Formats: sequence, C-alpha cells, structure tokens
Amino acid sequence: MAQTYYMVPAERIQIANDQETISLGGKTLRFVEAPMLHWPETMFTYLQENRTLFPCDFFGSHVAKGLYDDEVEDLLVHAQRYWGEIMMPFRTMAQKALEKIKKLEIDIIAPSHGPIHRNTERILEAYEKWAKGETKQKATIVYATMWNNTEKMIHPIAETLASEGIETALYNLAFADIGDLTKDLVDSRAIVLGAPTVLGGAHPLAVYATYLVKALRPPLKFGVVLSSYGWGGGALKHVQEILGSSKIEVVGAMEINGPPTEGNIKQIVEFGKMLARKIKEQV
Ligand SMILES: Cc1cc2nc3c(=O)[nH]c(=O)nc-3n(C[C@H](O)[C@H](O)[C@H](O)COP(=O)(O)O)c2cc1C
Repeated sequence: MAQTYYMVPAERIQIANDQETISLGGKTLRFVEAPMLHWPETMFTYLQENRTLFPCDFFGSHVAKGLYDDEVEDLLVHAQRYWGEIMMPFRTMAQKALEKIKKLEIDIIAPSHGPIHRNTERILEAYEKWAKGETKQKATIVYATMWNNTEKMIHPIAETLASEGIETALYNLAFADIGDLTKDLVDSRAIVLGAPTVLGGAHPLAVYATYLVKALRPPLKFGVVLSSYGWGGGALKHVQEILGSSKIEVVGAMEINGPPTEGNIKQIVEFGKMLARKIKEQV
C-alpha cells in the first residue's frame, strides 16, 4: 500500500510482523495486526511507554472538532455512525481485534479520524456491543415515495410499532441522510422498507437503501417490505433479488395497486403487530 499509494521505494520499507516491536529510543512501538479494519493491511500501533493505542480507523468518527472525546457532544452517536458506515461489514474481524487488544493496558486510544479517546472504557464497551451485533427493540423504517401511496402504507406500520413500545427511526429516502440511516441500522433488530415500482423495478432510492443493507451487513433479524405499483409491479421482486441470501427473515411483504384500501391497512397493522412480537421475543 505504501508503494502503491505513496511511491515509497521498497528499500525504505521495513516489514513489521504481528507483535513485533521497534525501539525509537525511549519509545517502543508494538505492532498489532488487525486486518480488514477496514483495509487488508490494517495494523494497530501500541506505544508502550505511554500506554497509547493508534488503531488506524478503528474507534474513529467523522468529526473534525474537539481534540478529546469528552470535548465532543454526542460523540458516541458520531462513533456509532462511523461504525455503521465503515466497520459494520467486518464484525468478525472487529471481534478478533478487540480480543487481541484486551491484553494491552490502554490509557489513550488515538484513531486516525475523529477525537482521541481518553475515556477508553466508553468506546471499548460500545465496540464490544456493536461487534457482537447486539440489537435493541428497535426498527428502522425507510421508504421512497412519488405520489405518497407507499408512504400511506408506511405510516400505519410505524404507528403500530411505536404503540407496541418498539423504538423506531423513520426515513423518507428523498430527504434522508444516508449516514444517519446507517447509524440506526447498527442497533436495529428489524427493517421496514417501502419501495414503489418504477420502470418494472424498485424506486432507485429504495434500490440504493436495499443495496446498502446488503453491503453493510447490519445485524437485522426481521424485515417487512411494502410496495405500491400502477400496473405491472416488480419492486417487491427486485428488493428480494438485491437482498438475495441475506439472513433477514421477511415477516411480511405486500405489493398493492395504487393507494392502500382499508383492508390493506388492517393487514399492514397486523404485520406491525407480528413484527413487534418477533422483535420482543428475540434476545
Ligand atoms: C416514473 C414512474 C415510473 C413508473 N413505472 C412503473 C412501472 O414500471 N410499473 C408499475 O406497475 N408502475 C409504475 N409506476 C406507477 C407507480 O408505481 C404507482 O403510481 C405507485 O402507486 C406509486 O407509489 P408512490 O405513490 O408511493 O410513489 C411508475 C410511476 C412513475 C412516476
């Protein structure tokens, strides 16, 4: 990578293996291999004398204000968003790295993005949870809509979930910040996706959101897909194709012509109740 990106000549490169140390004179660097967090060559560096870990992007956040973690309001929210955007697909590698650094005594974690953690316990606890894929009784609800028909299907399920005591995060994809959506996927147990038909498939924004779910691999357990079409439909099939062999159990799927009827709404409310039950039963 150093050669490819920065044209560092081979003779200037010294390869450090896992757990190898290099003395700089009074300061000792220990190297800890932590591959795929989030590039193949990721390696943490531990500065022994200062009990400081430089973990590359791990424990990072996309925030450029505040030198230390306690100087940034809601830092954990930023860190959760960063986890979702960058680290979530690599949960297994993250678990391995967390296990490895347990042996180190760490006072400071200084990632390459975002503030330095001097409250190391807080971020380590959060990472333990996220890496294990611990979820809350929470559903993320995302939808696209052109003429509000899909939106009319989304509202009753959102209301049902909320009245069943499920935490909900609702996103109209036309206005949503995709990073915010990703942050909510980190600890959601379920997703509700609203996707109207456009040109025989799902609306492009719904395709985008579905693809993100597939690529980022959030620890979602359950899903509901709701769709409205004008003549031939196709969005439901398209969404299912993108999700492919994902482990999400689809609790309910509905594709209707035009706006929802009273009967459709009743069935959507039933989907909501069933989804809430599944979310609550899952530990
Ligand atoms: C640009 C555009 C393309 C569409 N393409 C299709 C299509 O290929 N097949 C179909 O069944 N309906 C199609 N429709 C109709 C919509 O799917 C239908 O109006 C649906 O009720 C819209 O849901 P919404 O109100 O949530 O946007 C299209 C509508 C628009 C605006």
